[in-house]
This record gives sequence, structure tokens and C-alpha cells, in this order.
Amino acid sequence: MDRDEIKYYINKPETLKERASKICSELYGNRIFVRGLIEFSNLCDENCLYCGIRKGNRKIKRYKLSLKEIEEIAKRAYEFGIKTLVLQSGERGSEPIQKIVELVEKIREIDQNIRVTLSAGIRSYSDYKILKDAGVNRYLMRFETSDEDNYKFLRDGLFLKDRLLAIDNLRELGFEVGSGFMTGLPNETEETLINNILLCQKYGFDMVGIGPFIPSPDTPLADFEQSGIELTLKAAALIRIALPLSNIPATTAAASLVPNGRELMLTWGANVIMPNITPKGIKENYLLYPNKVCINEDFEESIKDMSSRAESIGKVLDFSYGDSKSFISRMATS
Ligand code: 5AD
Ligand code: SF4
Repeated sequence: MDRDEIKYYINKPETLKERASKICSELYGNRIFVRGLIEFSNLCDENCLYCGIRKGNRKIKRYKLSLKEIEEIAKRAYEFGIKTLVLQSGERGSEPIQKIVELVEKIREIDQNIRVTLSAGIRSYSDYKILKDAGVNRYLMRFETSDEDNYKFLRDGLFLKDRLLAIDNLRELGFEVGSGFMTGLPNETEETLINNILLCQKYGFDMVGIGPFIPSPDTPLADFEQSGIELTLKAAALIRIALPLSNIPATTAAASLVPNGRELMLTWGANVIMPNITPKGIKENYLLYPNKVCINEDFEESIKDMSSRAESIGKVLDFSYGDSKSFISRMATS
């Protein structure tokens, strides 16, 4: 899509939704891929202005799950039928890579075919290579915003180009690569959204995660105005048109902003959900933003809840590996 086509759709939301959901059902039927999300540590070296677990927030309780705890959660999820796990933590370049390798190896011992996704921020090329060799299949790292100046401001002095370079490295190493952005960040306009879509299209991400920015207490942006869900819905639908083969999750942030946020995203082009399987009592410390849903549920309950939400919009949960069609076609032609 070019800039004008994106603009056209932004001003015609009904047409946009219809086109995106048609593409989605042609490619995925009524199926929604399920991933289990384990937030294994909320330690973070960075100080993103928008994030509740930024290093500067001294009010939260920091944690790091032990290898044993993670193994137990992974086993329970596997027995429940979940074949893709997403391991997420804050960004900690100081964490020895071997620690993450141990974790991945433990999970692969359960079943070599489990798809392991990691989301732990920027690391060196050689660290990414070590992770790939250890069996990490997918890597998620949002670029957050395509506006270089705003990126530097919001991520407290970091550079967008470094993030994009890390993403290039992941791709070169053969990971299935996920990225994405927030909608409604401070200093953003419609132009930013358009540029975000164009950036995703240029990079051809295999997965694109989009969610509304939700001002978080105890952060410098606590009093910033909350945007509506519409921006996120439009963004998801635009990505479905720009990158039909990419996986698009219906995000927790969307559900935290409006109760039916995930169902809405799933009718605007999203095809994945990521129930949070971090144990109750721990996940309440992974508060990137307030009112995060699922904090008080065990994962079996979350999945049941999601299954009935899916049913309410005529869809069903799919527990297969759900490799990105974009990744599959990339691998077939490389
Ligand atoms: N509101 C919404 N999303 C947020 N994230 C971080 N802080 C917030 C917030 N306040 C998102 C970022 C990050 C992902 C893990 O969570 O996009 O990449
Ligand atoms: Fe750390 Fe990620 Fe939060 Fe930034 S968004 S402070 S890198 S956890």
C-alpha cells in the first residue's frame, strides 16, 4: 500500500474493516492461533517513559522466575495443548545469554517441536546466534514508533536505528520475526500511524503486535491523555491488508482499554491470542500499564474465557504451531 491508499482506508473505517476481515477469513478461516505468554522477569535496564516496569519505577516488586518455576508452567501449558510459548522479560543486556539458553533448553526438553518465542530486547548478533542455535524459533521486538525523534524521547535516549539493526540481525539469522508499535503515543499524528504501517510493510514482519498506549501510574507519562481503541483497530486492519500473511495478535492492551478489545481486534484482522500463563500472584508485578486483564485468573480460566469470547464472534481457538505464513513463504523462497 502507498501513503494515499492508507489514508483512504483511514477515512473509510467500514471499508477497511470489511476488507481486512475478508482477507483474514480467506487465509485463516475462523481459526485463532493460541500462544502461551510467560512473563519470566520484570527486571529491566531501560527507562522507557511509557512503561510501568521501567528501571526508574522503584514502587514495583521485581521478580525473576527460577528455571524450575518456568519449567513447571511450560509443562502445564504443554499438557493443556499449548505448543507455542512466548518468553518475555524486560530488556536486560546485562543478563548472561547462557541463562536464557538454559531456559530454552529446559523447555525444548519437554518436546523438541515446541515453538519457542523470545521477547527480551536488543542483544548482540552473536547472542542472537547463540539463541538461534539453542532452538529459539521466533523473536518479538516492537519498534514502538517509526518517528526517530519520538523514539529517542520515549525510550530515554535510545536510537530507533539500533532497534532496526537488531531486527535485521534477527531476520538474517533465520528467526520468525515479530515487531509492532503502540498507537496514540504522545507527539503522534496520523502521519506517524501511516509511517508505522509503511515501516512494517518495508520490513515484511512475520508478526505485528499493535496495542493502544495506556498511560501508566508512576511513569513520566502518567497524566497523558488516553486515546481510543479505534486507532488500534485501524492499525491492525491496515497491517492485515499490507501484510496479509503476517500473524497479528489481539493484544492484552486492547482488552485492558475496552472489555471486548480482543474480540474487536479479531474482527478487524487479528488472528492470534496470547493468554498470559504467568502464575497468579506474580503476573500482577508485570504491569506495563494499569488495568491489565487476566491478572486474577489462572491460565486455564483465561483460556476458557478466550474460547467463549472467540465463539461469541464465530471463531475457534487453534492449538497448532501456527507458524507465520509469511515466514513459511520466506523460507520456501530463500
Ligand atoms: N501501554 C501500552 N503498551 C505498553 N507497552 C509498554 N508500556 C506500555 C503502555 N503503557 C508495550 C510496548 C512493549 C510491549 C512489551 O508492551 O510496546 O514493546
Ligand atoms: Fe523495559 Fe520494555 Fe518496559 Fe522499555 S518497554 S522499560 S524495555 S520492559
